[in-house]
Amino acid sequence: MIRSVIAGTGGYLPARSLSNDELAAEYNLDTSDAWISERTGIRRRHMAAPGETTADMGAAACREALARAGADASEVDAIILATATPDSAFPSTATRVQEKLGIRQGFSFDISAACTGFIYALGVADSMIRTGACRSALVVGAEAFTRILDWSDRGTCVLFGDGAGAVLLRATEVAGEGTDSGILSTHLHSDGRHGDILQVEGGLVRMAGREVFRHAVSKLASAVDEALKANGLDQTDVQWLVPHQANARIIDAMGRKLGLPPERVVVTVDRHANTSAASIPLALADATRDGRIGAGDLVLMEAIGGGLTWGAALARF
Ligand code: ACO
Repeated sequence: MIRSVIAGTGGYLPARSLSNDELAAEYNLDTSDAWISERTGIRRRHMAAPGETTADMGAAACREALARAGADASEVDAIILATATPDSAFPSTATRVQEKLGIRQGFSFDISAACTGFIYALGVADSMIRTGACRSALVVGAEAFTRILDWSDRGTCVLFGDGAGAVLLRATEVAGEGTDSGILSTHLHSDGRHGDILQVEGGLVRMAGREVFRHAVSKLASAVDEALKANGLDQTDVQWLVPHQANARIIDAMGRKLGLPPERVVVTVDRHANTSAASIPLALADATRDGRIGAGDLVLMEAIGGGLTWGAALARF
């Protein structure tokens, strides 16, 4: 039978990084480093340069994922890219990435699931690989999120950053159903009744932060339980938690729920802020580059975002 194995990870962050104080000064915000960092854990964020597109960042992340997998672009037959900040309604950002990578074969398309986008893209790519629709897929989360922020709303504009992350999935023949390698399962959910608590309206992000917080911990906890149960595992089997990076308090709550020591939870929110669909693959790239996550490790990923959408994925590296 066929499984999707994560062959390589990559990430890209724009060169410009602003501290909370620098952001406040640049956008004349009535806020403070203490307010932002105590409530969210955010200390800095990267911002795309003028003219730097979501596709530019996505392509850069893909190049690293390919290089770290020892793969050539000619082996890629699918690009599935999650973003809330596409460069245009069409062409999709995924086809723009395909062009930048010089890939002429296969297919590419975007996925819209806000901050849960990477988990959705991973789920779709994994299903397509398992059914033979493609053999090798770049799964990308890429965001120029600071372009949709309302700089007069201090409750949202301090929370987000720009960047991209990618993984290369490869179809790999494994012995049987019980084989414990690659993407083990993905679990996707949405509930449109809560669409208005986190949305883009008139081109800008609007969020009822407390409402989002209230949904986050319970929905993430149930997705994580579902993922573990589906694989006959319990929380003691998890070696790494790679959560969506929205808020350090939500991340800490999930780490505590799983009984994981803080050093087993990958955190980038302090340096990247919330990069929406890019946050999980950026965190994966971080923790594989420095050797924390290695071959054989069981990694649990989870995310919640506008929609509401939420989900979890389990992968054996
Ligand atoms: N600096 C200073 N004061 C601020 C700021 C700021 N940047 N933002 C809001 N305030 C003020 C408000 O004006 C309000 O003042 P008031 O009491 O005088 O009216 C006060 O702080 C409290 O505002 P709340 O919005 O109620 O602040 P809260 O304590 O809920 O914290 C936060 C806001 C950090 C966004 C929190 O609700 C949260 O973490 N929510 C989770 C949502 C999240 O992480 N979203 C990320 C995107 S969604 C996702 O990726 C899952």
